[in-house]
Amino acid sequence: MYIAGDCHHRSHTIHTTLSEMIKDSYIKTVIEPFKIKTVEALTFTSYEDRKRIIRDAGYNTFLIRADHVLIDLLTDSGTSAMSSKQWAGMLDGDESYAGSRSFFRMEEAVRKITGLKNIIPTHQGRAAEKILFSVLGGPGKVVPNNTHFDTTRANVEFSGALAIDCLNEAGKQTHVIADFKGNMDVAKLEETILEHGADNIPLVMITITNNSGGGQPVSMENIRQTRAVCDKYGLPLFMDACRFAENAYFIKMREAGYQDKTPLEIAQEIFSYADGVTMSAKKDALVNIGGFLAMNDDELAVQCRNLLIVTEGFPTYGGLAGRDLEAIAQGLEEILDEEYLHYRIKSTEYLGRKLDELGIPILLPPGGHAIYLDARRFCPTIPPEQFPAQSITCALYEDGGIRAVEIGSVMFGRTENGSFVPPPMELVRLAIPRRVYTQSHVDYVIEVVAHVHERRNELTGLRLTYEAPMLRHFTARFEYID
Ligand code: F0G
Repeated sequence: MYIAGDCHHRSHTIHTTLSEMIKDSYIKTVIEPFKIKTVEALTFTSYEDRKRIIRDAGYNTFLIRADHVLIDLLTDSGTSAMSSKQWAGMLDGDESYAGSRSFFRMEEAVRKITGLKNIIPTHQGRAAEKILFSVLGGPGKVVPNNTHFDTTRANVEFSGALAIDCLNEAGKQTHVIADFKGNMDVAKLEETILEHGADNIPLVMITITNNSGGGQPVSMENIRQTRAVCDKYGLPLFMDACRFAENAYFIKMREAGYQDKTPLEIAQEIFSYADGVTMSAKKDALVNIGGFLAMNDDELAVQCRNLLIVTEGFPTYGGLAGRDLEAIAQGLEEILDEEYLHYRIKSTEYLGRKLDELGIPILLPPGGHAIYLDARRFCPTIPPEQFPAQSITCALYEDGGIRAVEIGSVMFGRTENGSFVPPPMELVRLAIPRRVYTQSHVDYVIEVVAHVHERRNELTGLRLTYEAPMLRHFTARFEYID
């Protein structure tokens, strides 16, 4: 059972939260704030089947057929269950090539939250990144971020620019408990600007929440401080806002002065400090495909729209169908529902807390969209160059048909001057799709992770047999080291 923390207040009158609904608030259970209208059957496989399937997939969970997965925690991206209102919107979508009514609804929904002037739809987050960095990146340019997500880094680097992470120190320690481990190290940001010269920095980015660093939030105070550094050097601040609503809810729970504000008000304040946004709507807009790029600068918007027409489509659809735009608009309303956010954050915390209580090392405190196993402490005998997090990922699939993803040396390890450089953390991410799994699914996951942990000394390292030159984790193949 998910245990509620403090009670939460809503500003409007007809609806209320569960804790306010029950007289004297004796209920401790956090319930899913929805009921299920359509179901999709799960498929079950045998242990022998899974041993063969993962071997045939080159020990890479990206290469397994989804039909062979029981509980899919590969990603929270594009895997949300849409609401009946979103599906109704899909039917109502306006498929006009130009000037679609659905675009204007989506534009209004994004503008209400971000306050930004130019809203450019794209087919997903990385398309927004590609356009932004094609215009602003390039050789000699440097882009600082709290932590670049892998596609963001790839798009910065693909343009010829340098991507630099300026994460605060606590954010790199899996066992340190702090409220805002996604915070930018503003001193390091300033050093980076001084070292490379403000003229070479086209923009500063901040990723909310910090996905690659454990789904950890960034505080409003830190966003303000980052803004102040940007102002000092005349630099625009862009936000990678995939999980802005989860970040807003963490601010409400943890930062002084925000307890009585609505998630919408908090999100509006967050974006008031931004000059622009890249967004994968596949996360906090509760859709299966979509994204956008938004900015105040009109001249930059003209350049981005011109590129959009070449790569994505006309500026009122940007690679999406009208129905997708409709679903994004509706999703952006639903994501800021306080009861939903309370359930979302508490149900992720439930998984993390149970694993922690069993002595399983996880990145603490639990993040918003995922729980991250700390593979270094889980499997101390496997060195980073033998990919301990990948080995745990394979064991979770073999033992329970659970699909997780490695965020460690496979994804971010590099070879410099012939020697292997591991990233600061070796993690296995258990990402939780929005509104998809129930508590019993989560309890099953807890049992399987506990089982893998019990037999951790039997796990062996892996060696690469194939790797692509970029974003190798998607297609890499491995074999076990005997
Ligand atoms: N930025 C962040 C912080 C992300 O987490 C993602 C995607 C993107 C940008 C790119 O968005 O997938 O729509 O092109 N993250 C997914 C994940 C893939 O599994 O974490 P996209």
